[in-house]
Amino acid sequence: MPKITAAITAVQGYVPEYVLTNKELEQMVDTNDEWIVSRTGIKERRLLKGKDQGSSVMAIEAVKGLIKKRGIDPKEIELIICATVTPDMTFPATANIISSAVGATNSWGYDINAACSGFLFSLVTGSKFIEAGQFKKVIVVGADKMSSIVDYTDRSTSILFGDGAGAVLLEPNTEGFGILDSILKSDGSGVTHLHQKAGGSRRPPTHETVDAKEHYIYQEGQAVFKFAVKGMADVSAEIMEKNNLKGDDISWLVPHQANKRIIDATAQRMGLDESKIMMNIQRYGNTTSGTIPLCLWDYESQLKKGDNLILSAFGGGFTWGAIWVKWGH
Ligand code: ACO
Repeated sequence: MPKITAAITAVQGYVPEYVLTNKELEQMVDTNDEWIVSRTGIKERRLLKGKDQGSSVMAIEAVKGLIKKRGIDPKEIELIICATVTPDMTFPATANIISSAVGATNSWGYDINAACSGFLFSLVTGSKFIEAGQFKKVIVVGADKMSSIVDYTDRSTSILFGDGAGAVLLEPNTEGFGILDSILKSDGSGVTHLHQKAGGSRRPPTHETVDAKEHYIYQEGQAVFKFAVKGMADVSAEIMEKNNLKGDDISWLVPHQANKRIIDATAQRMGLDESKIMMNIQRYGNTTSGTIPLCLWDYESQLKKGDNLILSAFGGGFTWGAIWVKWGH
């Protein structure tokens, strides 16, 4: 029997309308456009505004678009995995909210929280159900409303993050296309450098925790930067070596969009020039679980059947990893 791989057969993204520019941030915190662009590469980011609007709002739009694009009946979908660190509610899973809103009434689903590596961890998890021959249609969606956990009086984090979602459809392939290999890693000692202090079971939210702004992202930027540069470059080089891939064999690096300097260091280590890097950080900032599918969506028209893609990320946990994908359509 031929080996079954999980191919990405459709991709769709969604970003909210509101654009928060560096200029507008200059009115909110002590920062300037020149500093933000030179230190991060970000020019603007999108924000989901409005009452009672959670990450699912963006995920639902992305998944609905995906279903329409592929021309399938939502009832054919068997599994929906949602990568997010900003679920609509602690429970139930955001995947449940998405599946009922899109009419995927024959599916089951759950959320995966692996911070900025969430989409990669979810993609590998989803691919296993296809490879095992159990399912024929799995949706993996990454969605984060980072503006819900960003302190807009803190210049070190407010400039970085944005809201957005992206989704892919996985289907079986027997011609060698799709997700061909992955290396995923996590190290809980990284928690001290990047976390949300309150809101979980260790420190449930109280007036005191909210007053102390402990429900916002806490990040030691410089420390995370050092780990991220090394972790993302190392794992991207490792997956190439493991599969005997040289720089010339790679068509695209699809990196998590946290900081342009981290992305450039990774590409340099892989021996790739700038023309092979998918980059949209200038428009969306860091949308956490959304960055990688949003890149695939933006660059989809430039992808060719047989292209070798390396998807790579580093984020809170720490978590990091790389996936080798052979594009199949
Ligand atoms: N505008 C102007 N000045 C600023 C700003 C700002 N927005 N932010 C910080 N500064 C100042 C600092 O106060 C500091 O001033 P000082 O030298 O007088 O003390 C100076 O700029 C340098 O600050 P650093 O923190 O050293 O700046 P750095 O070059 O490290 O950039 C950044 C900060 C952008 C946060 C960077 O460290 C970074 O990208 N870190 C990694 C982020 C990341 O990858 N996170 C993982 C994913 S997120 C997730 O998983 C949810």
